[in-house]
Formats: sequence, C-alpha cells, structure tokens
Amino acid sequence: MSVAARLPRRKKAAPDPADLLAWYDRHRRVMPWRALKGQRTPPYRVWLSEIMLQQTTVKTVGPYFEKFLAKWPTVEALAAASLDDVLRAWAGLGYYARARNLHACARAVVERHGGVFPDSIEGLLALPGIGDYTAAAVGSIAFDAPAVPVDGNVERVVTRLYAVEEALPAAKPKIKELATSLLPAQRSGDFAQALMDLGATICSPKRPACALCPWNDVCVAQATGRQEEFPHKAQKREGKLRKGAAFVALRADGKVLLRQRPEKGLLGSMTEVPGSDWSNDFDVGDALDAAPLKAKWRKLPGIVTHVFTHFPLELTVFAAQVPKGAAAPKGARWVALATAHEEALPNVMRKVLAHALNKKT
Ligand code: ADE
Repeated sequence: MSVAARLPRRKKAAPDPADLLAWYDRHRRVMPWRALKGQRTPPYRVWLSEIMLQQTTVKTVGPYFEKFLAKWPTVEALAAASLDDVLRAWAGLGYYARARNLHACARAVVERHGGVFPDSIEGLLALPGIGDYTAAAVGSIAFDAPAVPVDGNVERVVTRLYAVEEALPAAKPKIKELATSLLPAQRSGDFAQALMDLGATICSPKRPACALCPWNDVCVAQATGRQEEFPHKAQKREGKLRKGAAFVALRADGKVLLRQRPEKGLLGSMTEVPGSDWSNDFDVGDALDAAPLKAKWRKLPGIVTHVFTHFPLELTVFAAQVPKGAAAPKGARWVALATAHEEALPNVMRKVLAHALNKKT
C-alpha cells in the first residue's frame, strides 16, 4: 500500500464551491422557472420568479408564475397590461407593493432598455423594485454575473458554515461578504441556486440533515453540534395589534358591496369590502358608525385575523342582506359574488368574505 493510501483523508480546511456545485448537479430541485442543467433561464422569467418568491413559498408561487407567463409571455406584454389587471392576477400572493413595482419595472425595462433587461448588477439595481437581493439573483442566474443573492436560506447556510455569532439583521453585511468569498470563477447562477437548495432541503432550520451535506466536513457549527443555534436573531418588536370592522352587504340579486382602497398606503388600489379604519383603540361598540349603508347589520360570531408585516389585525365582521334595488354608496359598487374572485382582493379580504359566507379559506 502506498504511503498516501495509508494516511487518513485530510479534512478540508475551507468550504470548496466545487463540492456544492457537484452536489447541486445531482440534487437540484426542478422548478418551473429553472432551465435544464447547463442552460440559462431567460432574464424575464428569472426576474418574475424572484419577485414572486420574496416572502412566498415555492409551492404557492408555481401556479402564479405559470399564469403570468401565459397571460404575459414577454416583458413587453406585461408592460402593456394595466396595473389593475396585474393586481388582479397577483391577488392572493400578498405584499402587493411587489405587484406595483413589478409593473413599474416592466415598463422601465421597455422604456429605458428597449425590452432587454440590463445584464449588470448596477443596471438592475437602477430599476424599480429591484434591491440588492433581486439584482444579485437576476444577475447571477440569468447572466452569470459574479454576485450572491442572500435570502433566508443562504443566511442559514453561511451563519452555520462559519458559526457567525453576530445576530441578524446586523450580521447581514458580514454574511454577504462571506457568501461572496465563496463564489466560484464560473457558474455563479448555479452556485446561488445551489446555496438556496441546500438551505431549503438539507440545512433546514430544525434538524438539518448534516450527514447529507456536501460541506459537513468544513462546517464550524456542525463540528461543535450547534447547527440549530444559527442564525442568531435579534429580538423582533412586533407591531401593536390593530382592530377594525368590515361590512359584508349582500344584495338579493347575489351581489356584494365592494370598493377600492386609496391608491397610496397599505394595500393601495386593492379591492375591499367597506370597513372602519384599523386602529389600536378601535371600539367595536362604535363600529356601526362606519357602516356603508343603512341595513340590519348582524355582528358575526368570531373574528378574522391577519398578520401584516408591521402589525397584526383583528376584524369584526358585520353582515346584512339588502333588497335588490339598493344603490351603492359613493365610491362603492355591487359585484356578483360569482365573479368576486376575479377582483384584486387581498388575502385579508378573502378571509372576510369567506367568514361572512361561512366558507373555509
Ligand atoms: N428562492 C428564491 N429564488 C429561488 C430559486 N431561484 N431557486 C430556489 N429557491 C429560490
């Protein structure tokens, strides 16, 4: 036996991106926006999927991605659509500022760049709704630009790999620097998606499958059995609870009263059932002051809860049946229940309607 064969396998001192890429080549997840091995996804698809995937799961995004591509197969087609149509198609994905930015970005790509996405990180960053993460994701995945998009999965992988003791969000620059230091000379798009897949499938928040990890021999957290401690997170201050009332008026001809929210602010331009303001000191005893029309309002048992980024919300729902001839108050309109699902109704309003109609969401 040679001397080399008798020596124990030397432990690698640092993570090798080639090991991660080799793992990715074998275990990459199949996704509707992902090109086949060795091919690149066109920038429109990468951008669309990355905007949709922010704060939303891969499973939820799939059907929306297909729907958008079928309706608007190119960035020119999306730019030519009305914001209302885009919001309608987006309804249910949440975080509606993303849909408004998506539309503005499509228009900017067409107006400023003749419908061709810029291929540099700086060029991408100059577009509406494209921040550090999206620029790095589109740049690396569509153009192989040398950048690493750092999402929650990547934060988990990197903080464990190097046992980053600093807490999020302060640790973000450090995590970005460490992730960038790992970039291979080629295949930055595959490297980015490999990090995401590793975080999603192996390096999970609870009970990570370290035995299957291509970097388990160089992971500092794994060496000390502290995997689940990372990433450290600073205490989050939750927003104060807001409360309000929502009024579901059902007309005898099967129509429900809806209105548009103001253009600016939370859920801007989306559709809603009429309601009170949402406030910390809402008093349900005064709720009927905000009713949109005179009717026999019935307070429904239970409440509808929803958690927005900055605050949790509790809505008391009132329902009333009104006669066929009832007119809609100023700013509101009657919409057939059968077509209400085509409205740009945010999730919280879908919950309200389902609550009033006694259906499960
Ligand atoms: N999450 C966000 N973008 C992703 C991608 N391209 N692959 C896997 N997960 C993702």
